[in-house]
Amino acid sequence: MSGGALPGRPITWQLCAGCERELSASSPASQCPDCGGLLEVRHRPPLPHERGRALTALFAGRRGPDPLDASGVWRYRELVLPDARREEVVTYPEGNTPLLSREAVSRFAGVEGLLLKHEGMNPTGSFKDRGMTVGMTQARRIKARAVACASTGNTSASLAAYASSAGLPALVFVPAGQVALGKLAQTLAYGARTLLVRGDFDACFALVREAAEKLNVYLLNSVNPFRIEGQKTIVLEMLEQLAFEPPDWIALPAGNLGNTSAFGKALREASELGLIARMPRLACIQAAGANPFARGFREGFARPHRVKADTIATAIKIGDPASWDRAAAAVRLTNGVVTDVTDGEILEAKAVVDAAGVGCEPASAASVAGVRKLAAEGVIRPGARVVAVLTGHILKDPGLLLRYHQEADPPPPRANRPIEIEATLAAVEEVLGRGPQ
Ligand code: F0G
Repeated sequence: MSGGALPGRPITWQLCAGCERELSASSPASQCPDCGGLLEVRHRPPLPHERGRALTALFAGRRGPDPLDASGVWRYRELVLPDARREEVVTYPEGNTPLLSREAVSRFAGVEGLLLKHEGMNPTGSFKDRGMTVGMTQARRIKARAVACASTGNTSASLAAYASSAGLPALVFVPAGQVALGKLAQTLAYGARTLLVRGDFDACFALVREAAEKLNVYLLNSVNPFRIEGQKTIVLEMLEQLAFEPPDWIALPAGNLGNTSAFGKALREASELGLIARMPRLACIQAAGANPFARGFREGFARPHRVKADTIATAIKIGDPASWDRAAAAVRLTNGVVTDVTDGEILEAKAVVDAAGVGCEPASAASVAGVRKLAAEGVIRPGARVVAVLTGHILKDPGLLLRYHQEADPPPPRANRPIEIEATLAAVEEVLGRGPQ
């Protein structure tokens, strides 16, 4: 949105965040050809009638029959991909996710005004669909012959679905034996060529980067700047749901750091466009066993960190995040914090979110566990307005859920064991007589 309005400039272009080299919007490069830096999408600066109140009124008016307005991504198209032609857009539609308030979760987290933005309510069950609709649209615009990603499972499910909608061949690289059941099942069912790589996510990512470059396949990981443009709408939609009165904090799980980068860019632009008068603070939450970004934060981001990742939250089991620099910039911009939570804390938060009737996948519960930890430490005040983003659906990881609730020795906190009975009324009566578990 900032970044120079030269006459004759296209509406959208790409800019290297490292050396500021500019590339056309149609370049398929996954990094800067000069310095290897990450690319960012820039749009021409808004005209006076595309700012502040005029812009919020434009968004609010989009409730009609237009298929683009039905999407919680394309409803904000001026800030996403202003020159996309209707027939190019690959949309389900996605977005339009609820902002929930549940007393049991607020009480557990120790923050009265806690809201949950449930991105698991997207068409393939995670926030990835918001980036994928834009990434796949861009793939179509540049006439990519095939698309690819490395994934811990959600990106692959989303890419597989949107590639099928677009009629493009899809290739996904996932760590063998480390992807949650629901995600692998979706990826296969939607029809992507699925490679189970003997290695972790970081190995998959290195391999797909090389393959994309050498085999002329369009890379749709979150290093792709068009994905970031779509993911910005999590923040835009949340702000709109709050009548553009920003919360004090936005908490989100952090893995490869694409989403943290997208949130930073969305907040920067919302502030520049006069949509918000105040900057919310980002709280980025990592799993303790996959916490390079939290380690970096403790040292003021003096240098990048890398770890061998290990956590039950397989979505964020990432040791060498790709979008480190722009995520660090997002934390600095918002005076944010980065912290980590143990697998036990994640599982307990998940059990609370699930039992409140909301449900989410393990990595998503990291945001609630993180809010609880930051509130206990006094970083987040009990009266603060906080939005925790739930990034994925409860059915993504049914294997872990069943293990959790059936574990007997000892039963984990809030486990709800199934009870096998004879097919008799007496057996039912006996169970009812036991009272609550
Ligand atoms: N939550 C969920 C449910 C995820 O699937 C991911 C990332 C994140 C949080 C973290 O977001 O990577 O942008 O920091 N999943 C990727 C994937 C890596 O392949 O599905 P991030």
